[in-house]
Amino acid sequence: MEDFSYAHRDTSETGSKGIARFNVPHIPSALEEVRKSAFAREIPVAGDETLAFVMAQAAASGAENILELGTAVGTTAIAMACACPNAKITTVERDENFYAEALKNFEKCGVSKRVNAICGDAGEVIEKLDKKFGFIFMDCAKVQYIKYLPRLKELLVRGGVLVADDVLLYGWASGEAEVPKKRRMLARHIEEYLTAVSEDKELITCVIRVGDGIALSVKNTD
Ligand SMILES: C[S@@+](CC[C@H](N)C(=O)[O-])C[C@H]1O[C@@H](n2cnc3c(N)ncnc32)[C@H](O)[C@@H]1O
Repeated sequence: MEDFSYAHRDTSETGSKGIARFNVPHIPSALEEVRKSAFAREIPVAGDETLAFVMAQAAASGAENILELGTAVGTTAIAMACACPNAKITTVERDENFYAEALKNFEKCGVSKRVNAICGDAGEVIEKLDKKFGFIFMDCAKVQYIKYLPRLKELLVRGGVLVADDVLLYGWASGEAEVPKKRRMLARHIEEYLTAVSEDKELITCVIRVGDGIALSVKNTD
């Protein structure tokens, strides 16, 4: 009998470690250096798996305009600029030091002409934006995701993609792990976000275990 055991093997046991070697994003060495420096200082920037996913999805979206909430020092904005060579990126960061460092990194990686970096609170900035986006990467304070959702839906073009990062952190929002008392509000807000996007008929949503969990929603209305 032929061996088809591979078709039934539970690959979840090996987890991301088993597939890690396939999720190595193709990025320029200047961005590698930026990431190395960020990791060394424990700045919470996207790991390989999340970065590969975001780059692939941004490229697949064909977006002309990309919005990112939560720049940190710019690694995901630079990666998206590399994956989407014709796109313009708007990225928002409230921390002035991160913002200043991100500006330098955009220069260093040769993407500054296509990146509009804004220093400010994402909630305030999104109210003022007057163009629509084909791809939005939300990676700022998780507790705010649910609050930003209605406005982000308005800012998406039809067929546009909204990726929310870290939605499964520690298994709290999914009920897979007990939530520490001081994290209950955060867990509740993320659960509200996941419920909202998954029940919304104007969105097609998939929640997946990439990095610390991603909710990918596609807008199916104008
Ligand atoms: C996880 S980090 C972003 C990492 C980045 N996307 C990357 O992978 O390279 C989250 C960032 O969001 C910023 N942030 C959190 N809440 C924000 C808000 N309301 N407005 C703007 N920035 C915010 C934090 O200062 C932090 O730098």
